[in-house]
Amino acid sequence: MADLPELWNKLSSTDSQSLLKKHCTQEVYDKLKDKKTSNGGTLADCIRSGSQNPESGVGVYASCPEGYTVFADLLNPVILDYHKISELKHPECDFGDMANLGFGDLDPSGEMIVSTRVRVGRSHAKYGFPPTLNKEQRVEMQNITKAALEGLTGELKGTYYPLEGMTKETQKQLTDDHFLFNDSDRFLKAAGGYDDWPAGRGIFFNDNKTFLVWVNEEDHIRIISMQKGGDLSAVYKRLVAGIKELEKKLEFARLPQLGYLTFCPSNLGTTLRASVHIKIPKVAAMPEFKEICDKHNLQARGIHGEHTESVGGVYDISNKRRMGLSEIEAIQEMRRGVEEIIKLEKSA
Ligand code: ADP
Ligand code: ARG
Repeated sequence: MADLPELWNKLSSTDSQSLLKKHCTQEVYDKLKDKKTSNGGTLADCIRSGSQNPESGVGVYASCPEGYTVFADLLNPVILDYHKISELKHPECDFGDMANLGFGDLDPSGEMIVSTRVRVGRSHAKYGFPPTLNKEQRVEMQNITKAALEGLTGELKGTYYPLEGMTKETQKQLTDDHFLFNDSDRFLKAAGGYDDWPAGRGIFFNDNKTFLVWVNEEDHIRIISMQKGGDLSAVYKRLVAGIKELEKKLEFARLPQLGYLTFCPSNLGTTLRASVHIKIPKVAAMPEFKEICDKHNLQARGIHGEHTESVGGVYDISNKRRMGLSEIEAIQEMRRGVEEIIKLEKSA
């Protein structure tokens, strides 16, 4: 906790627009500054990234699952603010009726949607988040996750590739093709997300790279389903099948009022981000593009992910809200929004 006063001074002297700056008042700071979770998580762990990076939007990470309780005076207002909810409440997990989803391909003509991806994050219930993990624990978690993944069958069957030992060329190719993560997010880096890199990190995927699992990137586990084109139904069904299989073997951290627990409070709840890479040069050029996205609770990212730029009018459009609604509601919110954006692009 040695660096806490320094972090606090830095935060106090910036005019950051982050949720950290907004909600970490002197009163909250004084109340939490000496608290610790049972595995040593501190307030410094929660505010380090946002204090060192005033351009943060959120600026807060939880030290560990227990941090959501111990540092609730800071984390709860951030959660309410980010997810635009008035009370800390999250519904039971509900993936919807798989036999009657009521939607299929969002772009049957194949003209606009390049690819579709849906991901969720999961945390092992018994381990901390990056600031409270050591190398042995990262490797231990990797082994537990790998063993569970290696039991998958059918379409989900695949191979686990640890980052340790993977050539730089392979890593670059997998990253360029949108399958793999790297260590280039400075917000995550400041939060301890890349400590001991690349130990304990890796990627699992099936033969045609439509079902993938990231191990020890931002979250302990990211479960991903993706494919070319706009068939959201197929992508979502595969994801849900994968989640259900892994749930049989692993115990995931969850709190009734917050849903599934993730390192960053922006991902809590369903932890679900459903996105399309979509060609929308006309809509994206409209001055009101941001308002259009906000109106439909959508978020626009560049094609290499968060904090990247669009290339050739192709954007990553996804649901923004993850908490306070069920999994199927989050998917439907994204579907409706994308359908509206497609209509707008066609009529512009
Ligand atoms: P997340 O938080 O969901 O992991 P990021 O913004 O960090 O998302 O993106 C992770 C990777 O997934 C990036 O390489 C990004 O280009 C890729 N990606 C996201 N959505 C899609 C999509 N619909 N089709 C193909 N790749 C995608
Ligand atoms: N900490 C960064 C910020 O505050 C990212 C927040 C959301 N993204 C994420 N990958 N958790 O801007």
